[in-house]
Amino acid sequence: MTARLLIKNAAQLITVSGYSDRPAIKEEMSQIGLIENGAMYIEDGIIVEVGTSTRIVEKYKELTAQTEQIDATGKVVTPGLIDPHTHLVHAGTRENEYAMRLQGKSYMEIMEAGGGIHATTRATQKASYEELFEQSRKRLDQFLLHGVTTVEAKSGYGLTLEHEIKQLEVAKQLHESHPVDVISTFMGAHAIPLSEKSNPETFVSKVISEMIPEVANRKLATFNDVFCEHGVFTPDQSKRILEAGKEYGLIPKIHADEIEPYSGAELAAEVGAISADHLLRASDQGIKDMADAGVMGVLLPGTAFFLMADFAQSRKMIEAGVGVALSTDANPGSSPTLSLPFIMNLGCLKMGMTPEEVLTATTINAAHAIGCADATGSLEAGKKADITIFDVPNYLTLSYQYGMNHVDTVIKGGVPLVVGGHLL
Ligand code: NIG
Ligand code: FE
Repeated sequence: MTARLLIKNAAQLITVSGYSDRPAIKEEMSQIGLIENGAMYIEDGIIVEVGTSTRIVEKYKELTAQTEQIDATGKVVTPGLIDPHTHLVHAGTRENEYAMRLQGKSYMEIMEAGGGIHATTRATQKASYEELFEQSRKRLDQFLLHGVTTVEAKSGYGLTLEHEIKQLEVAKQLHESHPVDVISTFMGAHAIPLSEKSNPETFVSKVISEMIPEVANRKLATFNDVFCEHGVFTPDQSKRILEAGKEYGLIPKIHADEIEPYSGAELAAEVGAISADHLLRASDQGIKDMADAGVMGVLLPGTAFFLMADFAQSRKMIEAGVGVALSTDANPGSSPTLSLPFIMNLGCLKMGMTPEEVLTATTINAAHAIGCADATGSLEAGKKADITIFDVPNYLTLSYQYGMNHVDTVIKGGVPLVVGGHLL
């Protein structure tokens, strides 16, 4: 039997439609497709039609008896939010390092002393598959409660073939067993393991000739990411790792210019990356190269906030024609949050983005940054019914009342999973 769902009377329904083929750029990022008193009719998890309540309710009224209905009076309906950059699968926390940073130690100093990514690598290697799964599953529930219906998840806390595969297998099982879609990225090049510190090239070779082929053969990842940073992977090493991934069908992504300027944005354009992420210290030339090559900029203002660093120059990127997306960068070191709506607040308050731009950046543009814009990221006919309903009277309130969870309902593939702010 056909499953029918009608969402009606939304104070505002935000479609972000019209950009399924390519990311919204420049002033297109402000066109959020707002419908006052909006409604949407869904069959078998796919959106059939979106419009005003008056029209949609009338058009589908003969089906009313067999249709589940959600009354969104006084609320805002948006596409399910998409988080295109997370380190979802890891073990443990690092609040001790947070305390050290509050005393003045820097993120890189802590990492160079064997903490940072190395600390989480030790914890992740030690964790059993089941422990890792359970910790990550809880985080995924939190994402869902904050309105997110698709996340990207990176490996990179295994740093050996065995443990990288363990992380990616957990991500795969989460994708299969949890309603939130999980799209995987291999990030074996997240740090040089302490045991190989004196000869980083040995580790680069392992990533290229052992890890990438095995991950690709097992079809455990769509993307290949590198932490291109002073003291981690050089632009030359990053390039070789990303080119090697391409040979195996893994699409490049880069942690670029996060802590220091390092030509990461330029490299993203050169290797044809789908996105360059962070970009706190990206150069003007790098921004231009990204716009010319169609590389998306995934900005992570939670990381700048938490590391007490300068924010990425989002205005410059939007004006240059870079398609901008926003993400939590959820991880235990540089951005321990699972709230994408808070990242939207920071996008406005700390990077000068408009409330409309941050909506585009966490829906359709985020979908483009992880290659799923054909299926999700906007509310239009033919797309998956991935929908978030916020208990706010208008979308401005979302970026105005910060640090609170306004999510009322989350629907994934036409199925309500969160109702009244609670997981069903
Ligand atoms: O995106 N920069 C590298 N990776 C993460 C942080 C990982 C960690 O500190 O555990 C990031 O900031
Ligand atoms: Fe990251």
